[in-house]
Amino acid sequence: MDKNKATLLAMDGGTPTRTTPMPSRALLGVEEKQAVMDLFDESIAHGEAFGYNGPHEAAHEKAFVEMMGGGYADAVNSGTNAVYCALGALQLDALSEVIVPAITDPGGVMPVPLLACVPIVADCDPRSYNTNAAQIEAVVSPRSRAIIVAHIGGEPVDMDPVLALARRHHLAVIEDCSQAHGALYKGRPVGTLGDIAAFSTMSGKHHCSGAQGGMVFTRNEELYWKARRFADRGKPFNLTEPKNVTAGLNCNSNELSAVIGCVQIRKLPDIIRRRNAVGESVKNALISRPAVQVGWQVPETMCTYWFLRMRLTLSALRVNRDTFCQALAAEGIPVTPSYRHCPVEAPWFINRSVFGSSGFPWTAPNYTGNRNPTALIGNMIAVSDCHFNLPIHERYGQAEIDDIVHALIKVETAYLKK
Ligand SMILES: Cc1ncc(COP(=O)(O)O)c(C=O)c1O
Repeated sequence: MDKNKATLLAMDGGTPTRTTPMPSRALLGVEEKQAVMDLFDESIAHGEAFGYNGPHEAAHEKAFVEMMGGGYADAVNSGTNAVYCALGALQLDALSEVIVPAITDPGGVMPVPLLACVPIVADCDPRSYNTNAAQIEAVVSPRSRAIIVAHIGGEPVDMDPVLALARRHHLAVIEDCSQAHGALYKGRPVGTLGDIAAFSTMSGKHHCSGAQGGMVFTRNEELYWKARRFADRGKPFNLTEPKNVTAGLNCNSNELSAVIGCVQIRKLPDIIRRRNAVGESVKNALISRPAVQVGWQVPETMCTYWFLRMRLTLSALRVNRDTFCQALAAEGIPVTPSYRHCPVEAPWFINRSVFGSSGFPWTAPNYTGNRNPTALIGNMIAVSDCHFNLPIHERYGQAEIDDIVHALIKVETAYLKK
């Protein structure tokens, strides 16, 4: 290929870096299909429909606990409900403040007001989508009772300072690990660091338990029983009381999800290893690039890359983030230009749409906090503006890594300021 054609951006009529689609993920395979068939065979043979809280769910939870190196797990029916039940296990008084991340899925925040607590947003670390102890400290108040941290994109939050702060202020810590299955912080799995953790196991995550699913995990047995009770209408599990002890919804998982989850969890170590390898390869290849690199990460972490968070040094480029991403897409590399999933910016939050038009919990007469807080999200805005995401997964091999790196450098070179 002549040099001009190789360096001319596809967007400007050059040859695209990649013309074949990226490989599909193929997360579910014949093993999951067989497990589901076996469950049906079992059910038909016994003449009983499969249900929930059965042996397969127990096996799934046991496998999950083994993966986490010990503890207790309760399978639930979504990541949102895993957060809901983790929070429910804490049995917070109404109008408690719960500190939430500036960037996360709505399902990682909505459980807070639905439990009559007030979500208070902590800004991002200036270098990351994740929050940090300083940002959390800035919003702690006498009403604070818990912190939810989310390990976004498979990158662990810097947990030691967060845990120290939580101890100082007597706050519970919920880790939302929905995007970070298997990620490590100082050698320890995320989800084992705080008081209780929530995982989403819907079909887009590192491993799944069918179309929807989630897991509550804790090393604290008392919290585990509280979560289980809360996840199943307050049933008095592990208590002598015969009747339901707290109000709760039905967030149960089921045997069908569990048989899929059992197969998937066996695949998880390989998925984690491959995703980490893709991310690290791209990171290392770009380490000395002037304008495009994998974003800063907390030291001593092992990321499991739900996506690749890419940072642009915009001052070194002649174009903005969106133009850079358009050029990358034209090169045949899938790209998500913005990951500004900020609860504060969504209509439900702005309009306080939780309990009809009441504005509750913010408007509750005995809430003594700021009813119309202006969330300090300057870092979130700055971080969002100079980052974009590359969707990656465990089926990406060397060819995909090479194409990604090639396209990133090609676009960067074309747009570098002279
Ligand atoms: C960080 C985070 N928390 C919570 C959720 C909600 O999980 P689910 O979609 O399984 O309800 C997600 C889903 O993507 C997530 O990424």
